[in-house]
Amino acid sequence: MTLLHIPQVDTLSGEVSISGAKNAALPLIASTILAKNEVRFSNMPRVVDVYTLLKLFDLLGASSSFIEDSLQIDTSTINSTTATYDIVRKMRASILVLGPLLSRFGECKVSLPGGCAIGQRPVDLHLKALEKMGAEIVIENGYIHAKVSRLKGCDIIFDKITVTGTQNIVMAAALAKGTTKIINAAKEPEVAQLCLLLKEAGLDIEGVGTGELVITGRDGELLDFKETAVIPDRIEAGTYLCAGAITNSRITLNKIVYEHIESTAEKLKEMGFGFELEGSKLTLLPAKKITAVSITTSEFPGFPTDMQAQLMAVATQAEGVSTIEERLFENRFMHVAELNRLGADIRIKGNMATVYGKSKLIGADVMATDLRASSALVLAGLVAQGETRIHRVYHLFRGYEHLAQKLQGIGADVYESDE
Ligand code: EPZ
Repeated sequence: MTLLHIPQVDTLSGEVSISGAKNAALPLIASTILAKNEVRFSNMPRVVDVYTLLKLFDLLGASSSFIEDSLQIDTSTINSTTATYDIVRKMRASILVLGPLLSRFGECKVSLPGGCAIGQRPVDLHLKALEKMGAEIVIENGYIHAKVSRLKGCDIIFDKITVTGTQNIVMAAALAKGTTKIINAAKEPEVAQLCLLLKEAGLDIEGVGTGELVITGRDGELLDFKETAVIPDRIEAGTYLCAGAITNSRITLNKIVYEHIESTAEKLKEMGFGFELEGSKLTLLPAKKITAVSITTSEFPGFPTDMQAQLMAVATQAEGVSTIEERLFENRFMHVAELNRLGADIRIKGNMATVYGKSKLIGADVMATDLRASSALVLAGLVAQGETRIHRVYHLFRGYEHLAQKLQGIGADVYESDE
């Protein structure tokens, strides 16, 4: 098992290049099931979750190959429509193959994802929408068995905004017969990129980036994909901004889309940090004094739940009392106990965390529990006296490309070792 060692740093400096977004890459890859041609993506992040989805594609009979950051996928050889428990238990986002497999092949069997470290995370809204489109769905032996001769377009009103739910239904609607209107659709940039990719491939889709999507189905006719670059990872970018913030440093991010990280930058501004933006380059300027902040997570363009743990780590170094309300997931405070083991004073009541700052943090052995919780521990480790050792770091490798190297590049002596 690998351990990540985080020695305390004084300040960070220099530049970090942001990789392609994991959460954009996964639906883009899933959507190639709808392609009539080989598909190529550039700026594809080489993170474990991408490899897990490619393993699933391999089991379905598709082939893929990487050359540097360019990924080529051929789904014309798919000969199975089963996503096994073994893969889905490693990565819930495997559910993204449900919509495209069903709309292309008329049947599929996908393991039902279980709960996970951040909440129950049901997929009932995905299933309800597919049933409304005419699919017959049976849950048996832990598998979703879905069948339909041809999905039919209809109006889908999501009770809750769901990112992968919207993506699944967009992909299902692409080859359906008739028009599908998705009301209360997710507006995340990762959803918009999927829609734009499909639009460029010939799909008639309106309302991209808004809460209402209208898709004219192609009645089974596959799409002609064009090469696309995966958008920059807004959560990776936000995490490095927090690395600069917690150490009160000046660092520059390259390859970002500011609009995608604006809500995080705005919170850091409230905490006293400054910014200089030049095209796709963003520099974080140190704060005279780091002040407490109040955060509520919400859907895009609000403050992302995927940045909540990292901002909480920064709040431990702010003067005063910060409050952080988690509105999306019911159990996304697993990092709190670990941050407190490092010396933070964070108290939880229901879905509200109160952070009493500023705390002197002291390095310790801590346990990673999920991807973003782990990144909060990395950030706290940068300012904790002595050394912090993070266990179960595989969580981090699911979504952060070259984490240790990128941190080394801005002056943190982070390194990996075997336990
Ligand atoms: C996506 O998960 C992301 N994953 C998550 O990122 C992110 O935290 C989340 O969106 C919210 O932004 C990917 O894009 C691969 P949801 P997703 O469906 O789509 C409830 C990370 O760290 N819900 O938008 O699974 C659900 O329980 C990960 O990179 C239902 O009740 O999230 C949650 O409370 C973690 N029924 C809320 O909706 C459903 O059928 C939003 O979840 C679907 C969702």
